[in-house]
Amino acid sequence: FSVNWDAAAAEKGGFGTFMEKEIHDQPKAVEDTLLGRTDASGRLVLDELRIDPEELKNISKIIVLACGTSAYAGMVAKYAIEHWVRVPVEVELSHEFRYRDPIIDDSTLIVSLSQSGETMDTLMAVRYAKEQGARTLAICNTNGSTIPRESDAVLYTHAGPEIAVASTKAFLAQITASYLLGLYMAQLRGKLFQGEIDDILADLHKIPGKIQEVLDGGEQIRELAREMAQAPSVLFLGRHVGYPVAMEGALKLKEIAYIHAEGFAAGELKHGPIALIDQGQPVFVVVPSPHGRDSLHAKVVSNIQEVRARGAKTITVAEAGDADVVDYSEQVFYVPETQPLLMPLLTTVPLQIFACALAAEKGYDVDQPRNLAKSVTVE
Ligand code: G6P
Repeated sequence: FSVNWDAAAAEKGGFGTFMEKEIHDQPKAVEDTLLGRTDASGRLVLDELRIDPEELKNISKIIVLACGTSAYAGMVAKYAIEHWVRVPVEVELSHEFRYRDPIIDDSTLIVSLSQSGETMDTLMAVRYAKEQGARTLAICNTNGSTIPRESDAVLYTHAGPEIAVASTKAFLAQITASYLLGLYMAQLRGKLFQGEIDDILADLHKIPGKIQEVLDGGEQIRELAREMAQAPSVLFLGRHVGYPVAMEGALKLKEIAYIHAEGFAAGELKHGPIALIDQGQPVFVVVPSPHGRDSLHAKVVSNIQEVRARGAKTITVAEAGDADVVDYSEQVFYVPETQPLLMPLLTTVPLQIFACALAAEKGYDVDQPRNLAKSVTVE
């Protein structure tokens, strides 16, 4: 009767769970999402969008709609698109959007992010926005699903089927697709020079290999997860694009390890969350690149010092070579260097591995967490 066993193991690519397999699929998910998006001269062509480039030129505002993990990808998209395209981007949870009388017109572009393309909250929000005259673009991982079918335009992520309820590879693929959309709009609107776009695309193409490096170093993270299995609560801090990564790290722990976890913007620490810190409180900090904007790196390093001084067990995710965090971190997980805006594609990975290993250590079914569904098709 070993046949079924082998079949199940093969489906999981030799891993014990789909979630582990999907975490390890991420280099390919990013690579495949980048595939075939440029012409011979290196210019981005997103023909599959089915939207008139002229229309994209005239968009005055973008509203990103999504739920769960996809909404955190939307937050990353906001940082990148506003920076590159200089168009205002709002990010809103789909279920909140429709019930608050949002301001939409025909120069508003709705970008929905959905792995399944079937999330009812997001579908209803997209329908509502269409009725109000907005243009709608779906970033989706499931060919022919309802949200892309009902949208004016679609940009597919190519993460492949995601089976585990907690999203991992679809998240990185959504972020990748959002970058492509941002760069394409920047190209159309002449907001970046072709050379700048080429540089960013070249760095994006290096990301899969860098994710692989993080995966190869996964044992250090799994060991920490096993040690921390009894932690009653874990906090996550991040800033700039590290902020949605912190929220996603916390969400993963809630979803599959059933641990109380919160993600905060590091700058908000002093406005409340620092009161939570006492002896032994684990705090993950997603540290911005030391080569990034202004003094963000220094500010986050001082946040690490602040929580550490109050007894926190500090665990940092930092760029390779960042020596400033070492003295204040109980453990540092280094990720390879990349452009500051692209860092979420790397810094998310240790947090996924951590949650997955911790949940497994507790004996939970990481693929089928209690009370959750992969695709929520009710409002
Ligand atoms: C459910 C899943 C989450 C997912 C969210 C949005 O709640 O459990 O993992 O992030 O739906 O799903 P979508 O398919 O729209 O990205």
